[in-house]
Amino acid sequence: MTEDKNFPNETSENGEELITENITVESTEAELSATEKPTEVYDAETAARVRALAAANRFDDESEVLISLRNLQVFFKIGGGLFKETKYVKAVDGVSLDIRKGETLGLVGESGCGKSTLGKAILRLTEPTGGQVFYNGKDLAHLSPGEMRDQRKHLQMIFQDPYASLNPRMNVGQIIGEPIRTFGLKNGGSVEARVQDLMETVGMSRRFVKRYPHEFSGGQRQRIGIARALAVDPEFIVADEPISALDVSIQAQIMNLMERLQAEKNLTYLFISHDLRAVRHLSDRVAVMYLGKIVELAGGKEIYRDPLMPYTKALISAVPVPDPEIEAKRERIILTGDVPSPINPPKGCHFHTRCPYAIAECKQIVPQLVEIKPEHFAACIRISPEHPQIDENHAKGLGVVSEGAPVSQR
Ligand SMILES: Nc1ncnc2c1ncn2[C@@H]1O[C@H](COP(=O)(O)OP(=O)(O)O)[C@@H](O)[C@H]1O
Ligand code: SF4
Ligand SMILES: [Mg+2]
Repeated sequence: MTEDKNFPNETSENGEELITENITVESTEAELSATEKPTEVYDAETAARVRALAAANRFDDESEVLISLRNLQVFFKIGGGLFKETKYVKAVDGVSLDIRKGETLGLVGESGCGKSTLGKAILRLTEPTGGQVFYNGKDLAHLSPGEMRDQRKHLQMIFQDPYASLNPRMNVGQIIGEPIRTFGLKNGGSVEARVQDLMETVGMSRRFVKRYPHEFSGGQRQRIGIARALAVDPEFIVADEPISALDVSIQAQIMNLMERLQAEKNLTYLFISHDLRAVRHLSDRVAVMYLGKIVELAGGKEIYRDPLMPYTKALISAVPVPDPEIEAKRERIILTGDVPSPINPPKGCHFHTRCPYAIAECKQIVPQLVEIKPEHFAACIRISPEHPQIDENHAKGLGVVSEGAPVSQR
């Protein structure tokens, strides 16, 4: 996990690095802030322990896969009726991806690319239209509702807007206790004791067990959401934009919390975000999604150091790089226009309408995800293991090359 200037670990006066997960109460909660004391301030030793745990838990065996997606599709039917043509939004259009045990796989892409739908389809919160989701040898996509219910305790979700995902009529104790009551306790003991343990685990005082969601700040509500997700001891968590709605200072705290929980509980995360800074900070590997498809997949550091796909380059262009040397050298691609409609996506490479390197074939050929460098995959017909970078001197722009000429001539 690298230090990121946008999400720095907090530093004490004498320069020691602290991971602070203290509850920061926003100004609106005057009453709570008057009574609340930080419950967790990590010193350098604890921070080192968290990192060591994370390192020890991660990738003992690189091939150990927890979740395997194979050609996963989620199409939403829209329109239709007596005289209307039925159309489909291809929100997820044939995604194949392995998520490794203990890793954080970042999933990035502009709004509307299908990230949330992919996350929900893995957990069957949205029904897949086709394809498979393997978990522990079972295809979740084809389990009966009863069988899926048994699996759900292993697979949880954290949402962007904790307020919307928490029942406003339930107090914290009831919210966190509900999944425990539904799925049963793993190791005996009382539900109340377990709830209180969970509150402490996520850095909240037990005293707030009878409070309601509206009494808390956004960061605290996200802690409640995380405690609720942890209540059933899951193995895998889809975190869908978990920090996007929070202030920057609170974002860093929630990310530190997620990082610590992953280390302590050996969790596997699918971390969905349109915010590349957050993904950079947390992810071991990053998958880039565009109009329902994964277009690039690589290690977290690698994808920032050497993005291959023009789309990935464009996304990264928009984010300042902390290293001035890389910042000075890197290529800038400014994306123009919005993501095209997934109802009628551009043929061939979906990105061709916005790609500065598009050639005639890009309109016809659907690029496949190919391993261009070890562990670095990209879907672009102008990139190959022999030529990992697009040759910009050749046929830049769709108008330059005549339709139908073979690629080898370009
Ligand atoms: N229930 C639904 N019915 C119809 N279209 C949907 C539904 N949910 C999502 N979509 C569409 O699917 C596409 C992908 O959406 P989403 O997965 O939310 O993208 P992201 O999370 O990347 O912003 C969008 O075009 C969105 O409008
Ligand atoms: S396949 Fe063509 S349009 Fe798609 S990213 Fe590559 S060069 Fe651009
Ligand atoms: Mg989304």
